[in-house]
Amino acid sequence: NDDLFKNVISHAKEYGYIFASSEIYDGLSAVYDYGQNGAELKKNIKDYWWKSMVQMHQNIVGIDASILMHPTTWKASGHVDAFNDPLIDNKDSKRRYRADVLVEDYAEKLLQKAQKEIDKAKKRFGEDFDEEQFTSTNPRVMRYLGQRKEILERLGRSLTNEDLADVKALIEELEIADPETGSRNWTEVRQFNLMFGTKLGASAESATQLYLRPETAQGIFVNFLNVQKTGRMKIPFGIAQIGKAFRNEIVARQFIFRMREFEQMEMQFFVRPGDELKWYEHWKEVRLKWHYSLGLGQENYRFHDHDKLAHYANAAADIEFDFPFGFKELEGVHSRTDFDLKAHEEHSGKKLRFYDPELKENYVPYVIETSIGLDRMFLSVLSAALKEEELEGGSSRTVLKLPAVLAPTKAAILPLVKKDGLPELAQEIVDELKWDFKVQYDEKDAIGRRYRRQDAAGTPLCITVDHDSLEDKTVTVRFRDSMEQKRVKISELTAIIRKETDF
Ligand code: GAP
Repeated sequence: NDDLFKNVISHAKEYGYIFASSEIYDGLSAVYDYGQNGAELKKNIKDYWWKSMVQMHQNIVGIDASILMHPTTWKASGHVDAFNDPLIDNKDSKRRYRADVLVEDYAEKLLQKAQKEIDKAKKRFGEDFDEEQFTSTNPRVMRYLGQRKEILERLGRSLTNEDLADVKALIEELEIADPETGSRNWTEVRQFNLMFGTKLGASAESATQLYLRPETAQGIFVNFLNVQKTGRMKIPFGIAQIGKAFRNEIVARQFIFRMREFEQMEMQFFVRPGDELKWYEHWKEVRLKWHYSLGLGQENYRFHDHDKLAHYANAAADIEFDFPFGFKELEGVHSRTDFDLKAHEEHSGKKLRFYDPELKENYVPYVIETSIGLDRMFLSVLSAALKEEELEGGSSRTVLKLPAVLAPTKAAILPLVKKDGLPELAQEIVDELKWDFKVQYDEKDAIGRRYRRQDAAGTPLCITVDHDSLEDKTVTVRFRDSMEQKRVKISELTAIIRKETDF
């Protein structure tokens, strides 16, 4: 899968999806630019999300809040005091790591060891194998899983109590070494705040310390009452937003999986206190189905319910995706209680309540949040779509099987040859279709090579104009995935493309 990941990264560059930021200066770590195809794919993912969340729900509206917010926002939200990652340096190699990640990696190894035992037993016992019983009685498996549980519990406690010495002790007890060099010579564990700071104001003395928002959610919370009042929203209702967020991540790795500048698509759903767990289950299901709807394979998704909860949550789950480097968080669904609105009430002195006409009562609503990283979604789509296919006759092709609704270019219009009036007719078709779809004209190289190029770029349809087209006003439509070809009337093209690529 290392190879698959490398292919995804190089394909993304070769086909104008993703470039390293300011590449001519050797790039900036964990910051990326989206190229001509990447920008389209990203926009289409946003539209798909916005349509499903905002347009399809009468009780969800969208906003666009600023990246810069009043600094007290981040005091209230807990980010100033608690948005930290524990950091540890290796004194010999001078490499920097997240201390919790080192311990979690170790715990993951224990899980793999247990799984190996289970797999071995499965092979031995065949059909009669009772996995549950084996897992709860086999001494080795129990030891691995027990140790893992204890380690994770201790890690969780140490991080929430900010008792970082205990994390250090864990690293020493487990004899965890620098993964790159094997050295065990560590510094103390320090808390490192992930927010990017910046200054507002001209003179150094009077400037105010601001932060680039580390999540879009707070822009929604501070606007809760504005939207509720002006939109006459009744609980339950939601506010959605797509926008940039910034985090000074300690370890930048895995391409656009963990970035320092990224985009989130978040929705906060405000509900009656006491109803939150019902809505939490509801949104978990709705969001999973949304992912399924893209047709990238249901086996690529799973839930991971959190045992360790953030300070604001009373239930939380991730939707994980099977990235080339394994199952990892793609989206979070969190039951955030009334933590944020209450905190903003306290810090602002303004009431953030809803008068419920049915209950005849004022209350601070509870919140269910769905939060997905746009760039992470992009990576999931790209890595699931990239395929190397064997064809009949021994040849192969690289094809990007993007969901058609997300594809950057919906159709390529290809004159068979560069003469006899075919380019002119092809151009006419482009001028007709471009009002409704992103289409591309391409006349360079033999037709077979043009098909391959469009396959690799993810274009779902190719439309070929030949000499017959001049006579009978028909063209050949070629479908990317099946490679099937069909003769159709030019006048039918709009309907065909719409059917193939619509929401
Ligand atoms: N408002 C809740 C919140 O921000 P989070 O789990 O910290 O929760 C939500 O982030 C989602 O944002 C994640 O599931 C992930 O998809 C995305 N995300 C978080 N940090 C990211 C990063 N450094 N780079 C890319 N995406 C990130």
